[in-house]
Amino acid sequence: MARTTVIANWKMHGTQAEALALARGVRRLVGNRFPAVEVVLAPPFTSLETVRRALRGSRLHLSAQNLHWQPQGAFTGEVGADMLGDAGCSHVIVGHSERRRLFGETDRDVGRKLAAALEASLKPVLCIGETLQERRAGRMRRILSAQLSGALKGVSKSVNEILTVAYEPVWAIGTGKNATPAQAAEAHGWIRRGLARRLGEAPAREIPILYGGSVTPHNAPELAAVAEVDGVLVGGASLDPRSFAAIVSAFAANDTPRTEDA
Ligand code: 13P
Repeated sequence: MARTTVIANWKMHGTQAEALALARGVRRLVGNRFPAVEVVLAPPFTSLETVRRALRGSRLHLSAQNLHWQPQGAFTGEVGADMLGDAGCSHVIVGHSERRRLFGETDRDVGRKLAAALEASLKPVLCIGETLQERRAGRMRRILSAQLSGALKGVSKSVNEILTVAYEPVWAIGTGKNATPAQAAEAHGWIRRGLARRLGEAPAREIPILYGGSVTPHNAPELAAVAEVDGVLVGGASLDPRSFAAIVSAFAANDTPRTEDA
């Protein structure tokens, strides 16, 4: 069984004071109450240290939102994997669609970043997803496969304990239009088959596949009820501790029956 995982992607939001208040709020409301759910917060680089301190001694994990594939060097404005580990990160988001679309990251770049994260023992959260145009043209499966291939090229089969994949359809991000449970189930099933082809059946079953795109406390329960959805990557709703805690709670509530079913 894949670990149930809920990740907050704060994107480019918040001063240190706001990050501190948010992290403390999540710690107060989520804390250690949901041991079956792995909960991860991804603040902007500037707030990593502040959030690290706020989470110290809790079960909550710290993630960065991006990294460079080189460990160090003359790459102005970039941050390497070891630097993130040193800053207290256990996870790093790789290949978010905003990085691909707005900053020109290619599948090859994403593959290099994923490899760099693995090399530094950071847990990569690999984001993939199709645009509305691609979906309408019937190309969803092809796009997901190409993004998986690009990212996993050269990755060994033993990444199952460290890799997380997030299906984030671009048309659902920040639009208020989340994928339906049926759409999520289809895409996640396809991704799972793609992982199995590349990494083997048993390892693929252990890799959490999260859904991301307009997740709210309102739609979290129906997404949590989808067997193929192992958790969520939350943007806007993660900026409010109560909303985020409600989403974690929805996945915790659903965890026991799913485990017993297996
Ligand atoms: P929203 O939840 O704001 O749609 O963002 C999703 C996302 O991009 C998470 O990485």
